[in-house]
Amino acid sequence: MTNPAANNDLSALPTLSSELNELNEAQLIEFANAAEALILQVNDVRLLQDLRVQLTGKKSPLTGWSKQMGKLSSDDKKTYGGWLHEVRSRIQEALTAHQQQLEMTALNAKLASESIDITLPARGAQKGHLHPVTMITQRMQQYFIQAGFNVATGPEVESDYYNFEALNIPEHHPARAMHDTFYFDAHYLLRTQTSNVQIHTMEKNEPPIRIICPGRVYRNDSDQTHSPMFHQLEGLMVTERSTFAELKGLINEFLEVFFGKELTIRFRPSFFPFTEPSAEVDILDGNGKWLEVMGCGMVHPQVLTNCGIDAEKYTGFAFGMGIERFAMLYYGIDDLRLFFQNDVRFLKQFG
Ligand code: DAH
Repeated sequence: MTNPAANNDLSALPTLSSELNELNEAQLIEFANAAEALILQVNDVRLLQDLRVQLTGKKSPLTGWSKQMGKLSSDDKKTYGGWLHEVRSRIQEALTAHQQQLEMTALNAKLASESIDITLPARGAQKGHLHPVTMITQRMQQYFIQAGFNVATGPEVESDYYNFEALNIPEHHPARAMHDTFYFDAHYLLRTQTSNVQIHTMEKNEPPIRIICPGRVYRNDSDQTHSPMFHQLEGLMVTERSTFAELKGLINEFLEVFFGKELTIRFRPSFFPFTEPSAEVDILDGNGKWLEVMGCGMVHPQVLTNCGIDAEKYTGFAFGMGIERFAMLYYGIDDLRLFFQNDVRFLKQFG
C-alpha cells in the first residue's frame, strides 16, 4: 500500500484552523478553490485516488470539520453544514471529472499505441495454378467429352490378367518385354498402360461404349523422354457400326483441335496385340519430321470376346497416347523429367 500522504504535496492548500467554529465562508471557498486547482495538477489515476483520500477521507481536514457538526447550535449547524456540503461537493465533482479525464486520456494513448497501421502495403499473395500435366489432361478431356465420351478410371495396382492377358498379350508374348513392368509378385503389378480400363469397362457395360481414361502408368524406364511414372489417355468406343474411318476422323479432329491448327497427319500401319488392324499416328512437324503421337486400331475380336461382348455383332476402336508427350509438344519442352522435379521456376511458367 502506498502511503497516501507521501505522494501528493498538499502545501498549496491554505492552512486553516482545525476548529470548525473558527472558520468563515471565505476561507472555506478559498480552500475549495485551492483543492480544485490541486486536483487538476495531478496527471496519474493512482495519484488522484490518493488525493481523493487526502481531501475527503477519514483523516482529511474536511472530515475533521464535519465531525464537529454535532457540537454546534442548530442555527450554526445550518450555516456550517451548508458551507461544508458545498466544499465537499465541489471537491468530489472535481475529483470525479478529472478522474474521467485521466482515464480517457490513458485509453486514447493505449488505443493509439495498439492500433494497426493499415496503410502498410500487404504482403503479396501468390496465386497458384494447375500442374502442366493436369492442364494438358483437361485440354484432352475437353475435346472428348464434347464428342460424347465419358471419363472412366481403373486401378493402378493391377493383375496380370487385366494389364496383359485379357488384352491379348499372353505370357511369353514378346510385347510384354517392351513394357518393363514393375511386378509385385507373379500376379500383381503396376499397370503399364491405361488399356486395362478397356477390359474393366467392357466387362461391366453393354455397348454402346464411349470412354476415355486418363491416368498414371508405370514402367521401369528413365531418360530424357521416359519417366518411371507417366500418364496416358486411353480411348475406347464399341458400337454396332464403329469403323476405322470413324476412328481416323475422330483422331484427326482431336489433334487439330488440341494443337489449335491444321496438321498433316498420317496413320502408319503398326502392331498392338489388342487391336487389328493397328496403326501409329504421326504428325508432321515444322522441320518436315514425322512425330509419333499415339497408337490406335480396331479392337481385336478376341478382346471383345474376353469381355463377354459378341464380336459378331459389335465392333470397336481404341486409342492410347502419352500425356507428357503431348505436353512436351504443346509447350515445346525437350526433357520429360522436368514435369516431375517440382522445380517452381519451371512450373511457374505455365500459369
Ligand atoms: N497401350 C498402348 C501403349 O501403352 C497404347 C495404345 C495403342 C492403346 C493402341 C490403345 C491402342 O488403346 O489401340 O503403348
